[in-house]
Amino acid sequence: MVSETPQTPPAIDEQAITAAVEQALAAIAAAPDTAALKQVRIEHVGDRSVIATANAGIKDLPKDQRAAAGKLIGQGKGRVQKALAERQQELAAAEEEQALATEKVDVTLPTDRLPRGARHPLSLLTERLEDLFVGLGWEIAEGPEIEAEWFNFDALNFDVDHPARQMQDTFYVAPEGSGQVLRTHTSPVQARALLERGVPLYIACPGTTFRTDEPDATHSPVFHQVEGLAIDKGLTMANLVGTLDAIARTMFGEGAITRLRPSYFPFTEPSAEMDFRCFSCDAKLGTDRDASPDCRVCGGTGWIEMGGCGMVNPAVLRACGVDPEEYQGFAFGLGIERILMLRNGVEDMRDMAEGDVRFSQHYGTEI
Ligand code: DAH
Repeated sequence: MVSETPQTPPAIDEQAITAAVEQALAAIAAAPDTAALKQVRIEHVGDRSVIATANAGIKDLPKDQRAAAGKLIGQGKGRVQKALAERQQELAAAEEEQALATEKVDVTLPTDRLPRGARHPLSLLTERLEDLFVGLGWEIAEGPEIEAEWFNFDALNFDVDHPARQMQDTFYVAPEGSGQVLRTHTSPVQARALLERGVPLYIACPGTTFRTDEPDATHSPVFHQVEGLAIDKGLTMANLVGTLDAIARTMFGEGAITRLRPSYFPFTEPSAEMDFRCFSCDAKLGTDRDASPDCRVCGGTGWIEMGGCGMVNPAVLRACGVDPEEYQGFAFGLGIERILMLRNGVEDMRDMAEGDVRFSQHYGTEI
């Protein structure tokens, strides 16, 4: 059996501890910032530091030395902890002050954020048109862009084999036979409004419309119209012409007038194409003869085509439960892109759809 040699109990190295405390205090005083102070704390009072090791060794000392050692180490450790706490406070305060001084934000400086967008001129023009109708005492109506074939065609007296129903004009919604289309005009809102609101009725409906057209300078598969419908007792074509003249004046200036040419639409009888007198060339002075032959707006005719109109066909009124013997009225549809092109000299419809903010910004901001 191997007998263990009894270990000499370690004696406390007073000098080493005093030196460690002094070193710690010096390091604390010298720490330039809180990060450095954290390091100092680990080195001088951390688990492996001289002070911590000595502290842990107290229990192994001979009994009679423990009290003195405890006192020495405890006091040293206390001084170091106190110095650490004070320095921590001092450095943290200095750092905060520094941050406040260097990180301040001048909220009055101009920003370099991305420039704001701009409202689209079609939206602005649509709102203007709405204002015009509200000014006449009319209401604004809306309808869905995915529309029942019945509202888009049948209610409006289109024959089952009317060419406009054919695939080359109309986007049909899948599956085949769904009975739904992307509305090809805003006219279905006529029937919706008649059914929902009844008569008398004065409504304008601006909205997006769709046709299977290839996009080019003057065509777009997605475009916008504004529909007007007035149904009351005793309305005549004179009321229609008066209303169109009011629209022409608001859109193109005082003195603008309209002209009607006979036409055909299934939902109006009689039907007409409406022309506004050219606002751009000398035609506005009075007679067709004054039109400038090379006018880019009217092509020398003195007139610009604006859309269709007419007296609402009794068949439409009947389909919507209105007695045509009692109530009559007129309707019209205008192309909003066309108005914008004419008023503002936009030469290519595709510019309106490309989404380049510079196109919109060109029109300035209207609120
Ligand atoms: N809906 C027709 C189109 O898109 C335009 C139109 C013509 C509307 C005559 C009307 C109208 O209200 O009375 O071509």
